[in-house]
Parts: sequence; C-alpha cells; structure tokens
Amino acid sequence: YVIGVDLGTSAVKILLVDTSGEVIQSVSKPYPLIQEKTGYSEQNPERWVEQTIVGLKELLKDFPTDIANIEGMSFSGQMHGLVLLDEQNEVLRPAILWNDTRTTAQCQQIYNVIGEDKLLQITKNPALEGFTLPKILWVKEHEPQVFERVKTFVLPKDYLRYRLTGQLHIDYSDAAGTLLLDVGRKEWSTTICALLDINPSICPPLLDSHDEVGTISLDIAQATGLSATTRVFAGGADNACGAIGSGILEDGKTLCSIGTSGVVLSYEATPDKNFNGKVHYFNHGVSDAFYTMGVTLSAGHSLTWFKEVFASEESFQQLLSEVNTVPVGSNGLLFTPYLVGERTPHADAIIRASFIGIDSSHQRKDFVRSVLEGITFSLHESIEIFRKNGKLIDTIVSIGGGAQNDDWLQMQADIFDAKIVRLTSEQGPGMGAAMLAAYGCGWFNSLKDCAANFLNEDKQFNPIPVNVEKYKKLFLIYQQVYGQTKVLN
Ligand code: XUL
Repeated sequence: YVIGVDLGTSAVKILLVDTSGEVIQSVSKPYPLIQEKTGYSEQNPERWVEQTIVGLKELLKDFPTDIANIEGMSFSGQMHGLVLLDEQNEVLRPAILWNDTRTTAQCQQIYNVIGEDKLLQITKNPALEGFTLPKILWVKEHEPQVFERVKTFVLPKDYLRYRLTGQLHIDYSDAAGTLLLDVGRKEWSTTICALLDINPSICPPLLDSHDEVGTISLDIAQATGLSATTRVFAGGADNACGAIGSGILEDGKTLCSIGTSGVVLSYEATPDKNFNGKVHYFNHGVSDAFYTMGVTLSAGHSLTWFKEVFASEESFQQLLSEVNTVPVGSNGLLFTPYLVGERTPHADAIIRASFIGIDSSHQRKDFVRSVLEGITFSLHESIEIFRKNGKLIDTIVSIGGGAQNDDWLQMQADIFDAKIVRLTSEQGPGMGAAMLAAYGCGWFNSLKDCAANFLNEDKQFNPIPVNVEKYKKLFLIYQQVYGQTKVLN
C-alpha cells in the first residue's frame, strides 16, 4: 500500500491506495482560513499538521492489514503559500496562501526592479499576487522584525513533510510557483535574489517529486500508528499531482480540473516554449518535464455562490438537472465568472463578474446554464492561448466537480471543441501523490507505467458540430465583456 496526502486549502485529504491503484480508504479533515482583512488569506501551519495526524490515525484505525505493508507516502499541496521558519525551524507567522491578494504593490516592485522581460526569461511566469515572491517582499516591507528572523521559507506541503520526517526540502514543481526559480535550469535564481536583496540561503534544497527524503519520524509513527519504516517521497504542487493522477504524462495530454478554482493544464516536454507569461509555465512532478496552465479563479466557486444566494435549499444535482432543458447560449444570457477577480488571461484582481442580457422571461435555469457556460468560456480562453502557440489540444481529461455532470462535460466538449474524457475513479491530486510514492517505492518503471495500471477511462464526450459553431460566436462576445465591464470597478 501507499498513502497520498493532499494538503488542500480547506482540508487535508488522505488516500490509502493498493498496488492496483484501488483507493482502499480515504479521509478528509478540514481546517479554517483566516481572513482578517479583505484580500487576506492565511492559515496556521500547526492546523495542517494536527489534522494530518488525526486523519492518518483515522485512516489506519479500521485497516485490517499489517501497517508495515504501507511502504510509502507522498504529498500534494496547495501551491504558492509562504511558510516562514526561523533558525530552529519554528513557524514565524501564519502562512500567507495562494488566494491572498494583498501584494499588488510588491508585484509592481518586481516588475520595476527586474523588468518584465528578464522575469519571464528566468521564471517563465508573470508577477501575480498569489505567487510566493511578492509575499516574501510584503513581509520584508511590513513586518521587518519577522523578516530578519527568517532562516528558510517553504511551501505548505513541504512544511508538513518536514514535520513528519524532520527533513526540509522543496520539490521543483512547487519551487516553480515561487517566482524565485529559474524554471528552465531548475535552480534558484541568484539574479532575482540579488536584485531584490533577498538572501538566497533562505531558499530550501531542491529535489524531484519522486525523490525519497527519509522515513516517518518515531514520534509521528507513534502518534499515527504508521510504521517508522514508511518511506517518504517529496511530492509536488497540487496541479502537478492532479496532472499525474489524471495521466497527463506526455505531450498532447491536457487536463481540465474544475474545483473552487478551475485549471486547464497541458504537458510540455521542454522548457523552451514561450507563452509570454499569458499562461503559467511550471516544472512538472515528472523529472525534467513541464506543464503550461491557465487558471480561472472562480470556477466551481461561481456555481457555489449562485446556489448559496439563489437556491440554498436545493442540491447541486437538482440545480444542474434543469441545464439540459435550456438551449446553448442560455437564451441570450451571458455570465463572466470574475467574482474574485481573474487570473488567466487578465491577471486582474480588481475586475468583477457580470450577467449580461437579462430578459424578463429568463428563469433560474437560464442563469444556471449561463454560469456553467461562463466558467467554461473562461477556461477556454486559456485553451485558445495554448492553441495560438502551436499546441494541439484535441483530447482533454476532465476532473473535479465539473466532471460530475454529463451536461457540463458535453458543454466542455462543445466549447473547447475537443474530445472530453472522464475517468472511472478520479481522486485528483491525492492520487498523483500516491502514484509518486508507488513509483518511488519501485512498483513501476515510470509514472506512465503506473498510470497505465492505476487509471481507466470511463466515458468520452465528443463535440457536437452545431453547438461548436454557436459557442464560437458566443465566445467572441464573451471575450469583449471583460474590457467593457472593467470601467465599472
Ligand atoms: C495555481 C493556484 C491554485 C492552487 C490551489 O497557480 O494558485 O490552483 O494551487 O491549491
């Protein structure tokens, strides 16, 4: 058996997986977000550790087999979050998370000091509020007394792994989201550190996602019931692990993942593509591979928001059951999902969402369909950027909440103009983490081998030509809404 731990934004999800890729047991343990001011989003790293221990204990409680049969574990984690540690590796302040937007001024500072061209050349990514480097600069400026005590920074799942093993590292896929890594050369950028007056010694040692860091420490073994011989592997960023757990392991494979936020992500074999920072370009959890990715900040969140405000008594299933009775284009209603700003392609924390074309004949179901269409259009903007840069996107594996509903999957096929594949059992990033442990333990010769054994296709959805044509026209209108509604804010 192996264990995959996915340290998410709202909960830690832990999977126990057998040698055939079957999930034998899973638990999820929540922890709170701390949002002291608008735009702030923090968490107490201690809660991650506590809840992981509680979760592991629960996972193993009813497990009938000898725990020594659990050979390895690995991690997936929310990206970009900043955990600052002092000389004794004690946490210096609450972690500042990926969805915290307080750092607009620091992003500007990065552009002013480094310049956009150089930043893109080194990190392959733009300076965005959510990334780690602007958070480091914010602490340096606003909490100098904290900053002067910083010995190291790590990302959330790296801190958790440190607490379970005593070993402090970061893997390339998470390091890529810091804006401090030279993504192509796979080394910390001393140039960026020097220009921003950051001591490069605060950057932790780098390793591959399947690299072994050691075993579970004795006290954690005692607290959880795990054997102290359980081998621990580095793990990766949640999007990299989501890609591994969905089989995005070679050129031509693309993923659409709709959770709170939405992601479209495509495998890249080399670091030499240039998307001009319009989409992200990060190191994969597969050695020496990369992926390009676009993010819609309010994907599932748009639907949850709509349900809470207008249909709180009903289930998602009830709400979505009406969608196929509304025609393509929602009877003239159009939604842009910018409830908390937008990442790709606008990188705009200020823009807000809109419904356009409301008619007195519209019913709630028209709104629901237009919300789904708006979320999917937003993801399509990233797919179009991939295509414009020469990527062939013809088959997309769809996972997350967006893959729970057949009508939405058909809509994805029609809007993306690509075949959509649903997997039989999709466990997202936690499965990617378990696969890294399985590969690390030597169960397979490669992650691709592991995917061939662990993952199965369930159903395909093919684009319907007449819908594709309608959506192409609507997408052109959708794309104009951003510019026209920007002035509202
Ligand atoms: C990716 C991003 C989010 C987080 C969510 O750039 O910010 O998808 O990884 O955990």
